[in-house]
Amino acid sequence: MPTFLFLNQQRRVRFIWPFFVAALGCMIFTKALAQDTSATTSRSTVHQGKVTTSGATNDSPTYLRDIQPIFMGNCSSCHNQQSRFVYNWLDYKTAYSDRWEIRRRVWDSWKGSYYKEAMPIANSPESLALTDEQRLTIKNWVDGGGLRGVELPPDGPKSKAERIELGRRLFTSICAACHQPTGLGRPNMFPPLAGSDFLNADKNRAIQIVIHGRQGEVVVNGMKFNNSMPAFPLGDQDIANVLTFVYNSFGNSGLVVTPDEVKVLRTQKPEPSESPLPKNIFE
Ligand code: HEC
Ligand code: HEC
Repeated sequence: MPTFLFLNQQRRVRFIWPFFVAALGCMIFTKALAQDTSATTSRSTVHQGKVTTSGATNDSPTYLRDIQPIFMGNCSSCHNQQSRFVYNWLDYKTAYSDRWEIRRRVWDSWKGSYYKEAMPIANSPESLALTDEQRLTIKNWVDGGGLRGVELPPDGPKSKAERIELGRRLFTSICAACHQPTGLGRPNMFPPLAGSDFLNADKNRAIQIVIHGRQGEVVVNGMKFNNSMPAFPLGDQDIANVLTFVYNSFGNSGLVVTPDEVKVLRTQKPEPSESPLPKNIFE
């Protein structure tokens, strides 16, 4: 009797499978079709406008200039290159191929009209920090064909003041979502950079944290944190600038970080005490 029941269930499952697969196939096909038509129509519009726009505005945002910084600041705690279960939006190809879904999540779903759960996930502070302007930029990027754009050429030596100014912009677009514009962080989540004893004690360690990310326990100004900071796809110049800004703000020690220092540390392994993979958000 139990055996019979078991067989019966097996058969029913087998019977349902082909329908399930067929339905799924249809859904994927329709989605691909819809995306394809809208992609081609909008791409040609961008083409016409392209000639004149190069230093320009939000009309044709590119991934490297406008979008990746948003993802670094607002999505990277979950969507990063170390995570195994969610897409890595810091990678252009991944973001490009899923751009319509990204657009839906940050644009259409925001007013609650989309059938999937609203994105960004409601209880994540860095995704709640996503502004309307950033949503619009992402929407325009997708509508404009998801352009990659060009990397800015690494520029020559800079004065300390220039580094600080460039670093301030990076800090605002990337680091502030977690460490807060004040640099004070958030209790139990993001450690402070303002007057951080941990930061000021060891410059090389700070550089390595921005290169490789950091996970596990850390004590900053007597407060314990156990969280994970992703690695960011930032160049040597950018890391030098952002850390120089941090070191010269929020009552920190006033050090300068140079691109050469970053370059050297890039080739070295991160602190041995750290595990190579971050603790995953599902664990
Ligand atoms: C707190 C963690 C977290 C943050 C922050 C976060 N996401 Fe997600 N995201 C997830 C998880 C988990 C999933 C997979 C579950 C799902 O599909 O809802 C996901 C799924 C997605 C998907 C669906 C991918 C697909 O095609 O199935 C998109 C698009 C997305 N996120 C965009 C974003 C964007 C854009 C941001 C930044 C504004 C962001 N997410 C920030 C956790 C996060
Ligand atoms: C997605 C959130 C997030 C972003 C964005 C982020 N961090 Fe962090 N950061 C963290 C977390 C979480 C930790 C603590 C990690 C741990 O527990 O090991 C941390 C730790 C640090 C530390 C060492 C601890 C301290 O407070 O001195 C430094 C330095 C640091 N981050 C600098 C930066 C800089 C510079 C940027 C911008 C380029 C940045 N972070 C962007 C989340 C973030």
